[in-house]
Amino acid sequence: MKRRNFIKNASLTGIGLAVTTNLTSCSEKTPETNNIIAVANKVSLPLVIATWNVPNATKKAWEVLQTEGSLLDALEQGCMVEEADIKNQSVGKGGRPDRDGNVTLDACIMNTKGDCGAVVAMQNITHAISVARKVMEETPHVMLAGKGAENFAVSKGMKRENLLTEASKKEWEEWLVKAAYKPIINIENHDTIGMLAIDKNGDISGACTTSGLAYKMSGRVGDSPIIGSGLFVDNEIGAAVATGMGEEVVKTVGSFLVVELMRQGKSPQEACEEAIKRIVNKPDSNHENFQVGYIAVNKNGETGSYSIHKDFSMTKYQNGKNENKQSDYYLKQSS
Ligand code: GLY
Repeated sequence: MKRRNFIKNASLTGIGLAVTTNLTSCSEKTPETNNIIAVANKVSLPLVIATWNVPNATKKAWEVLQTEGSLLDALEQGCMVEEADIKNQSVGKGGRPDRDGNVTLDACIMNTKGDCGAVVAMQNITHAISVARKVMEETPHVMLAGKGAENFAVSKGMKRENLLTEASKKEWEEWLVKAAYKPIINIENHDTIGMLAIDKNGDISGACTTSGLAYKMSGRVGDSPIIGSGLFVDNEIGAAVATGMGEEVVKTVGSFLVVELMRQGKSPQEACEEAIKRIVNKPDSNHENFQVGYIAVNKNGETGSYSIHKDFSMTKYQNGKNENKQSDYYLKQSS
């Protein structure tokens, strides 16, 4: 089904665009929140969802949208909350290092027009998401890597910092004793922070930030900064973001796949489930040993999340409150 037909059919079946300016006549405004509630299908916007249990990040993003900040402002500031939190050892400052002891960050961002920016394997700059946004908005490029990304960030006024905290350094030194590389599923129930947001006009954007797999090979880059793998947004259809074993997400171009499945008429939940099945049904898949999770939102404001293993969750901020929802998962029988 063609994109426009999908949208047209969705509208005709009553699950059409949840909030557009021409729906304002059947919408009401709540004075406290100033958001538009599409009475017809009870979808309240704005809406922010994120991978894992990150209530402070989703709250921040939603508040930015409520105070007339842009989608990109909301996503950037939401992700920055986690990047600055040294207790979150999977993103930003305090992230776990590679096997040589270097913290290297990956991030990307994508807007309503399909523009995007990314940084890969960047060191010494806490807010990778801000650099990714600047790559999109202030360079003719889509992606900057390593020293180039770091130097670009500094040229834009960002400060170099040591990202390796004492806690992460101590864990790395303990790991060095055996130096056995074995990715841990749901390490502390955190991984990449992927965030998707819809503003009150129904427009969608997304962002993704990570320090990648703990103790990865020097130079290793996962899915998170790769547009189509870690994140994909099509403002006419919806958006998706991934977490977990980046190599497996890259091999199936996971986030793009989820959005394309929604284009074909699948709900966000069905699309996330199908994308996980593509991974586990591959020949010689060893999915028992790694986690992948997706979250997605469509143009109607419907959301979905699904993972291989249990204990993946999605945080949703809507109507002025957070909800952390455990995802359904593939390996129910053996977990
Ligand atoms: N999903 C994060 C990574 O694999 O680097």
